[in-house]
Amino acid sequence: MHTSLQVIVTLLDLVPLIAAIPSFIGHTRSDNFTRLPPSVSTYQQELGPRLSKNATLYFPNSAGYINDTERWAANTKSNFSVVVVPGTAQDVAATVSFADTYNVPFLAVNKGHGGAAGLATVYNGIQIYIRALDDIEVSEDGNSASMGGGVYQDQLVNYLFDRGKAASSGACACTGVMGPGLGGGFGRFSGYYGLVLDSIIELDVVLANGSIITVSESSHSDLFWGMRGAGHNFGIVTRFSYKIYDIPHPDWFFSTMTFTNDKLEAVFEALNTFGANGTQPKEAVTYTLYTLNPEISATEPVVIFVLQFGASAAEAAPILAPFFALKPLSATNETVPYTGAAHAAGAGDTDATCLPGVSAQLYPVGLQTYNISTNRAIYNLYKTMVNENPGLNTSIVQFEGYAQQGIRAVEPDSTAYAHRGDSLLVYVVPHSLPSCKLHSNT
Ligand SMILES: *[C@@H]1O[C@H](CO)[C@@H](O)[C@H](O)[C@H]1NC(C)=O
Ligand SMILES: *[C@@H]1O[C@H](CO)[C@@H](O)[C@H](O)[C@H]1NC(C)=O
Ligand SMILES: *[C@@H]1O[C@H](CO)[C@@H](O)[C@H](O)[C@H]1NC(C)=O
Ligand SMILES: *[C@@H]1O[C@H](CO)[C@@H](O)[C@H](O)[C@H]1NC(C)=O
Ligand SMILES: *[C@@H]1O[C@H](CO)[C@@H](O)[C@H](O)[C@H]1NC(C)=O
Ligand SMILES: *[C@@H]1O[C@H](CO)[C@@H](O)[C@H](O)[C@H]1NC(C)=O
Ligand SMILES: *[C@@H]1O[C@H](CO)[C@@H](O)[C@H](O)[C@H]1NC(C)=O
Ligand SMILES: *[C@@H]1O[C@H](CO)[C@@H](O)[C@H](O)[C@H]1NC(C)=O
Ligand SMILES: *[C@@H]1O[C@H](CO)[C@@H](O)[C@H](O)[C@H]1NC(C)=O
Repeated sequence: MHTSLQVIVTLLDLVPLIAAIPSFIGHTRSDNFTRLPPSVSTYQQELGPRLSKNATLYFPNSAGYINDTERWAANTKSNFSVVVVPGTAQDVAATVSFADTYNVPFLAVNKGHGGAAGLATVYNGIQIYIRALDDIEVSEDGNSASMGGGVYQDQLVNYLFDRGKAASSGACACTGVMGPGLGGGFGRFSGYYGLVLDSIIELDVVLANGSIITVSESSHSDLFWGMRGAGHNFGIVTRFSYKIYDIPHPDWFFSTMTFTNDKLEAVFEALNTFGANGTQPKEAVTYTLYTLNPEISATEPVVIFVLQFGASAAEAAPILAPFFALKPLSATNETVPYTGAAHAAGAGDTDATCLPGVSAQLYPVGLQTYNISTNRAIYNLYKTMVNENPGLNTSIVQFEGYAQQGIRAVEPDSTAYAHRGDSLLVYVVPHSLPSCKLHSNT
């Protein structure tokens, strides 16, 4: 049912606060590896005519090129000879075919949040920027939506919310849907609907040979298995069909507590009691982080605990009681519509964590339960790092706990996703402002 040709592709994204995997695909041929890259006029004369009227090419130093090659993590910037903004799935396919013929590396990009340093290895390449493939259409029965590969989280959340609907989607507003989704995709509704990839019904994929195929349980089912968990390496998603639901609870309750670090052990003990081994309630998400708050101390990082809860404040009270008993320095409560939840968690579209131009590298690991002495050791290392390197003082260590019920309801072997048994997500975000040269320090 995808008659519309204006679909687009997948992209890549890595959100600062969620598990996301950058999507990219590349293709090289060793036998003509040394040939010179195509010139601007070759792109204009050979590729341009093969694209639809709505497609655009941007070359280095133009305003469009500069705008479109901006990345969340500036240290993941590739060297692109051209940005292609496809207007249709066929434009994506034509660009991939061109790249194949001319032996040019390429990278599909949506919101540019991929944090893997390897993304910066594309050299004299083509950025296939799928942002224009961003239409969303809800099916007649209201149980699914067909979307362009360029749809992003905030767009999807708002679109569905306006219709009383929700879906599994990443926890940050600013990333694409398929960037995280092809590798996993934790979010606030993981407890209900599982990972982003668990909601994929069908994908239109541009393959390396330039053909466009439909991938589902009944069409190229082997690729359907692989795309869900290892999808970034197999093709460019120009459209996907996705499960949607009536929103279970339109408001989200947030409680945020700040602790001095002497409470660190007690906070993680309480978190283990609350949600280790996948036992946390399906409505709950926890973020716990180490960060410097100069208003409290210039040298001693604090421990912040955030409960995000897709139900009422009253229902959250028994969950919060053990944390309040630890006497936080400060605590605030807030109830927001689901569309405001990413911002309330510090990951809204225009929040600092989402804005481009930082230097960042993410090293996530999955866990069952917190090892308290390890978490103290991480704290000590983090404290040393930010004290010895003032340029890194905006770095954080983040511990995220997403509800697991929806994720564990899916048969582990049914997709390529390999981490279905993990409960907790931990990552260090060595992070610096653009003025700081991070690479050598990390
Ligand atoms: C091309 O762009 C125009 C103007 O933005 C738009 O109205 C039209 O629908 C687009 N066509 C396709 C095929 O995307
Ligand atoms: C810059 O990029 C954004 C999306 O990243 C897009 O919405 C905007 O239209 C672009 N501006 C220009 C001048 O290309
Ligand atoms: C890509 O790298 C080459 C070689 O260093 C350089 O000449 C070119 O300007 C770079 N292109 C861009 C767009 O940065
Ligand atoms: C690169 O090499 C392949 C395999 O020999 C060949 O088919 C292709 O035409 C070459 N590409 C160009 C642009 O010469
Ligand atoms: C591209 O590869 C797919 C999958 O192997 C195959 O079905 C299709 O026929 C190929 N298309 C072309 C044009 O070679
Ligand atoms: C989690 O599972 C581990 C290993 O099975 C067990 O030792 C631990 O007690 C469990 N923790 C909780 C809080 O259930
Ligand atoms: C980081 O260091 C700068 C410069 O000393 C200072 O202005 C800023 O408040 C510090 N930020 C944090 C979070 O400690
Ligand atoms: C925050 O909400 C919790 C749960 O309802 C409640 O126990 C606590 O008293 C509230 N705290 C503040 C400061 O409002
Ligand atoms: C917790 O981590 C420490 C090292 O910090 C290690 O010695 C210990 O074995 C770990 N405990 C468990 C239960 O894995």
